[in-house]
Amino acid sequence: MDRKKVTITDLHAKKQDGKKITMLTAYDYPIARLVDDAGIDCILVGDSLGMVVLGYESTVPVTMDEMIHHSKAARRGTRFAFLIGDMPFMSYQVSKEEAIKNAGRFMKEAGCDAVKLEGGNEVLAVTRAIEDAGIPVLGHLGLTPQTISKLGGYKVQGKDAEAAKKILDEAMALEKAGCFAIVLECVPEEVSKIITEKLSIPTISCGAGRYCDGQVLVTNDMVGLFDRFVPKFVKQYVKLSGLISDAFKKYKSEVEDGTFPAPEHTFAIKEDELAKLKKR
Ligand code: KIV
Repeated sequence: MDRKKVTITDLHAKKQDGKKITMLTAYDYPIARLVDDAGIDCILVGDSLGMVVLGYESTVPVTMDEMIHHSKAARRGTRFAFLIGDMPFMSYQVSKEEAIKNAGRFMKEAGCDAVKLEGGNEVLAVTRAIEDAGIPVLGHLGLTPQTISKLGGYKVQGKDAEAAKKILDEAMALEKAGCFAIVLECVPEEVSKIITEKLSIPTISCGAGRYCDGQVLVTNDMVGLFDRFVPKFVKQYVKLSGLISDAFKKYKSEVEDGTFPAPEHTFAIKEDELAKLKKR
């Protein structure tokens, strides 16, 4: 079947038809290619970049320039998936003008199809402003890692009725503000079920259970390339770090004992040219 580029209309149709939306993160060309080739609907260039690729302690230090650099690389590896750039901390909080300018960079410089920003009531006005500028916005509620110090750590959100109602109200407000979908991170699945049923836009679960319209995982977590910690909601489909580490150790020992390179990894010169060279 001919594949077409995924659009917001396709994502909304999936919710209508009860089909699950798939999303993974990618921060560079080779992984974006693999994700795209696997037929995943959406690629998120998450600011998780900061932790799983750049080695920061949290997502807070990630800059616009870092996000644009990696989004450009992911763009080059993406043909069909819907590509979303994650707006880093402080790129959309200072003023609407700055937020629109930064969201625009994801579209113009990196060729993204949309941007994501974290937060509820505090980002409604800026969400509307970015949407009004013609840039689709993916919302993000529940555990919002950019404000981790305010939340008091990486904890499940919406665990009591009041906190859950706040997430529901904010989800409805974000839908009204124009978001095309909302990521729910670390929310009890019964809560995200209620939110999913109330919204007409899709919900994407990141540790928010089985009843959302789609799922997203950080690719480096699910392929075992980031082992500082593995969140409870992550399923590791493969442990690449072990495989890669074994390959590095084998390479070291083969170089040291002369097994690598073997003749098939070398280039030759013609006998007569070699003889001439030796005479010089
Ligand atoms: O930064 C990121 O990768 C994210 C996803 C986990 C939703 O925000």
